[in-house]
Order: sequence, then C-alpha cells, then structure tokens
Amino acid sequence: MTVSLSLISKSKEQTQLLGEKLGRLAEPGDVYLLTGRLGAGKTSLTQGLARGLGVAEYTRSPTFTLVNEYDGRMPLYHMDLYRVDSPEEAMDLGLEEYLYGGGVTVIEWAERATFLWPHQYLLIKLTYVSPTKRHIELSAVGSRYIRLMDELRRLFSKDGSEA
Ligand SMILES: Nc1ncnc2c1ncn2[C@@H]1O[C@H](COP(=O)(O)OP(=O)(O)OP(=O)(O)O)[C@@H](O)[C@H]1O
Ligand SMILES: [Mg+2]
Repeated sequence: MTVSLSLISKSKEQTQLLGEKLGRLAEPGDVYLLTGRLGAGKTSLTQGLARGLGVAEYTRSPTFTLVNEYDGRMPLYHMDLYRVDSPEEAMDLGLEEYLYGGGVTVIEWAERATFLWPHQYLLIKLTYVSPTKRHIELSAVGSRYIRLMDELRRLFSKDGSEA
C-alpha cells in the first residue's frame, strides 16, 4: 500500500522545515529516497533533517563525497549519487550496509540506484515549479512510513503550516 502527501514549498526555509519535522519523527533504520533535478532542494531538505535529528554541525560536503555521516540522536547517513554513472558502478560501492546501520539513510538521486531501495521506504519527489517554489510529493511505502506520514500530517495540522 502507498500513501501520498502533496505539498508546496515556497522557500528554502520551508523545505528545510519539512526536513526538520521528518528528522524529529525519524526512527533508526529509516530510509528516505530523494529525487528531483539539480537545485530541486534535496540537500536543503537534508539540512533540515540533520537539524531535526539534533546534528550539531552540518557541513556541506564537496559533491564528490558519496556518503557523509553525521551524529545526531542517531547517525545520519547522507548519500549523494549524482556522480554515480551506472547502476553497476553503484553496486560496487557497498552502500547497502548503511541501510542496515541503525541510523537514518537519506539518498539524493535515489533513482540512480533503485537496487538499493528496501521493501519499505519514504520516497520524496521534489519538482521545480519556479525559482522559489517547489512541489514536494511524499509517498510512503510500507507500514512504518504510512505511520510516519500520519504523524507528519498531525504536525502540519498542529502548527497550521503548509510545508
Ligand atoms: N522552495 C525551495 N525549496 C528548496 N530550495 C529552494 C526553494 N526555493 C529556492 N531554493 C533554492 O534552490 C536551491 C536548492 O539547492 P539544493 O542544493 O538544496 O538542491 P539539490 O536538489 O540538492 O541540488 P543538487 O542536485 O545539485 O544536489 C538553493 O539555492 C535554494 O536556496
Ligand atoms: Mg544536493
């Protein structure tokens, strides 16, 4: 079963705030798959997520770093597959172990390594609408993420924000 939530973000800060909410609700083993073109807001959302997880210092890595680890109330594994040219190349990198590492795994350009996708995950598609506007569609696959989405909805209705 898949449950979806469609949002509009009107600023980088709103996108970060969505990430922050997710970070607060995250549980060990969670996997968030991010898709969207260059500049869609994947890293911005991840910054918020790090904040929500209580990561003290989020330093933006050089783009050639494939996986960054951060220490929050649980580890955050941030993968960026932009530089990965083929699924074969991705398969050789041994990325699977992160998904079972007891932290939260966030994968930018997740569509480049669909073999990595676990049975349950939260898919977050960011679409560029205008310079400051993004459409963000969250799809929960599996019971863990359907529950997460319920909690997220509740947070939105509580503070009345759109994203
Ligand atoms: N509503 C919005 N949400 C997110 N970012 C926005 C928004 N409006 C404008 N921006 C700008 O768009 C850019 C998003 O950059 P970001 O690095 O988060 O994208 P990305 O998807 O990670 O790109 P890349 O594929 O290059 O890694 C930033 O410069 C940010 O300020
Ligand atoms: Mg990025």
